[in-house]
Amino acid sequence: MADIIIDQETCIGCGACVDVCSVTHVYALGEDDQAKVLSPSRCWECGQCVAVCPVDSITHSSFPLDECPVIDRSEDDLEKLIGYLRERRSNRVYKDKQVEREKVTDLVRTTRWAPTGKNLQAISWVAVDDPKTIALLSQKTVEVLVQGAEQLRKASTSKIDPQDQKILLMQAKTFEHLGRRNEKGEEPIFFGAPVVLAAVTPHSHFGRDDAVISGYTMQLAAVQMGLATCQIGYFIAGLEFDPDLGRDILEIPDEREIQMVLTLGYPKHIMRRMVTRDPLPFRWVEN
Ligand SMILES: Cc1cc2nc3c(=O)[nH]c(=O)nc-3n(C[C@H](O)[C@H](O)[C@H](O)COP(=O)(O)O)c2cc1C
Ligand code: SF4
Ligand code: SF4
Repeated sequence: MADIIIDQETCIGCGACVDVCSVTHVYALGEDDQAKVLSPSRCWECGQCVAVCPVDSITHSSFPLDECPVIDRSEDDLEKLIGYLRERRSNRVYKDKQVEREKVTDLVRTTRWAPTGKNLQAISWVAVDDPKTIALLSQKTVEVLVQGAEQLRKASTSKIDPQDQKILLMQAKTFEHLGRRNEKGEEPIFFGAPVVLAAVTPHSHFGRDDAVISGYTMQLAAVQMGLATCQIGYFIAGLEFDPDLGRDILEIPDEREIQMVLTLGYPKHIMRRMVTRDPLPFRWVEN
């Protein structure tokens, strides 16, 4: 249970902690206009009260102030952030160089700062850097997708909307093409990347979202560490046909599932320029 104390000497009664706490009855403003702790056992440890208190009056057992630095904002932060977002690209061509395990560990740890549904933080990452294991994972993925293509072709002949038929056939052709590339000796899933990373969560309706946000956080951080990544949706597509794809190879226990996969390596080519993107459709609902 969280241990929460409000310093009655320094609290200025601004009410910010009461406002931001999404759990009722953890805090209330007392008649003396100072915040009081009512039911600390209800706290679900989001840390928002500690983050907003303007005078550091809250001592919270899960959020010691020396581990919660004050945010230093500057005027060009947004511009810098957009620069970071635009710098992240999918990189499929890597140097023939292993990524140091320590560096991979540092990179994975950056995802601590990614949000998770209910703040569960139940996500974990698994890394593999053995070329044979990566090749096996790739082979299994291709096999599952090629078998999946057969199912898609069959489904496309059933009585469904012609547009849906077309989509199923297109997907089938994509997977069959991967099969042909694989037969030619290419490695079409992970492109021979030195590292493959998988995000794993318990079975939960937040799992995929948590993993994608975590992975995207990692992709952004990787660029700043001189590393390159690519999200591998083909692996996730394979899970639709075989939910246990990769479970044995990556030693994933039954109660958890793979939710997102990334490749990682040192980029062979440095992206010098940011590129443009389509204008984003956006509209307001006017009543
Ligand atoms: C959900 C998702 C799945 C993806 N799956 C793959 C994949 O399986 N193989 C691949 O080469 N690229 C994959 N990508 C990379 C996209 O092709 C890439 O993000 C897109 O072309 C935009 O390019 P950029 O990431 O360089 O900005 C995936 C990206 C996303 C967001
Ligand atoms: S950590 Fe979050 S849930 Fe707990 S008291 Fe503070 S604001 Fe409320
Ligand atoms: S946010 Fe801090 S100063 Fe404001 S009421 Fe809560 S404890 Fe007091």
